[in-house]
Amino acid sequence: MRLLKVYKIDIPPDKSISHRAVMLASIAKGTTRIKNLLISDDIRRTIEAFRGMGVDIKVKGEGCRVKGVGMQGLRKPRKGLYLGNSGTTMRILPGILAGQDFEVMLTGDASLSKRPMSRIAEPLRMMGASIAGFRVKGGGWRQKKICPPLRIRGGKLKAIKYRSKIASAQVKSCILLAGLFAKGATRVTEPMKSRDHTERMLKCFGCRVQGAGCKVSVKGPAKLKSPGTIVIPGDISSAAFFIVAGCILPNTKIILKNIGLNTTRTGVIDILKRMGANIRLQPRALSLEPAGDIVVKSSELRGIAISPEEVVRAIDEIPIIMLAACFAKGATTIRGIGELRVKETDRVRSMTTNLRKIGAQIEVKPRTTRSARVRGMGEGLRVKGGRVLRGAQVSSYGDHRTAMSMLVANLAINGKIKVTGLSCINKSFPKFLKLLHKLN
Ligand code: S3P
Repeated sequence: MRLLKVYKIDIPPDKSISHRAVMLASIAKGTTRIKNLLISDDIRRTIEAFRGMGVDIKVKGEGCRVKGVGMQGLRKPRKGLYLGNSGTTMRILPGILAGQDFEVMLTGDASLSKRPMSRIAEPLRMMGASIAGFRVKGGGWRQKKICPPLRIRGGKLKAIKYRSKIASAQVKSCILLAGLFAKGATRVTEPMKSRDHTERMLKCFGCRVQGAGCKVSVKGPAKLKSPGTIVIPGDISSAAFFIVAGCILPNTKIILKNIGLNTTRTGVIDILKRMGANIRLQPRALSLEPAGDIVVKSSELRGIAISPEEVVRAIDEIPIIMLAACFAKGATTIRGIGELRVKETDRVRSMTTNLRKIGAQIEVKPRTTRSARVRGMGEGLRVKGGRVLRGAQVSSYGDHRTAMSMLVANLAINGKIKVTGLSCINKSFPKFLKLLHKLN
């Protein structure tokens, strides 16, 4: 029997929670120390945006200190705010800007400039903000079907009850943050429950958040008060690459410490366990977010059917789950993948193209009814596992999660997969290559 190789990998802090920590600390009263903040390209964009609006933020080591300016303390930036590739900043920040008394322009890189923003513009307009965006095809400032740049003019907001067609934490967070500035209760209902980091963080800043499941509301006008210190757990979306690596590499055990285990994010663990993965969780004491250690060992995976509800709880992990499915016995089907088409790249396309190039057999099942099409629910995938995979040259398509998934694939096959365009990994996991190297 071959010797078991044991690795301990340090997973970076959670990206979603890091964005929210910087945002809420900036508009709270008092100074907040954020421990274990993710320092990556996207979080730098959020930090720079708030610095540009007059917030004193000092990054030191693996944390930062934010001197909050209060709900109305942000200043009109001298120029527009450039948000790079950060979709979370572009979609959540407008909720705060909608409550400010100035106009601001938000721009992003080429990929961000193609991402749909009507999903946040529509509710914010209903609340009273004025938002114009650009249309990629045809160009020019538009009201409907818009993409960045966004021109936002805040104002006096009114509370709304909003029923979102998609389960999106970015949309929900944007509306709830705008709701802090409106008089009365602002409620968001979504078709399935998306990640709830904003709700938890708001509570931590002393704000009352009501509701549960798919319905949640805040009451405005509200003020946020710094909790003093926030500690951010490791990012389960980043951990997912090492969890799958642990499953598909032979004679391997990987230990990941202090990872966020919020159930709105643990879909990847539930899915892999159903596939037969040997994963053990050791929960830690609960603080801002549930967290714990994850131990994963080489596993015999089998194909399963993954539902749209599970996809929402594993929305960023579907690329690496597709790779896991290639190593499973039998077929894996994934339904409700529409939202993957509008991530940093079209991840259905990037992953199916790349995996097919290395020999995987994947079918994309087309959208069917109109309502399923609208809600991104109809489309599905079928990955036939157990094929022999081979080396090839593939592309990241500028998407960090596509890049990291294909780099994990490279470790697990006989042959070399060359992945081009790796700088995008800095968006969420700057030390990824160095850590992955350990598994060689
Ligand atoms: C995020 C929500 C998800 C996720 C993204 C981060 C967040 O997007 O894909 O990477 O931090 O709120 P959607 O809200 O579009 O599902």
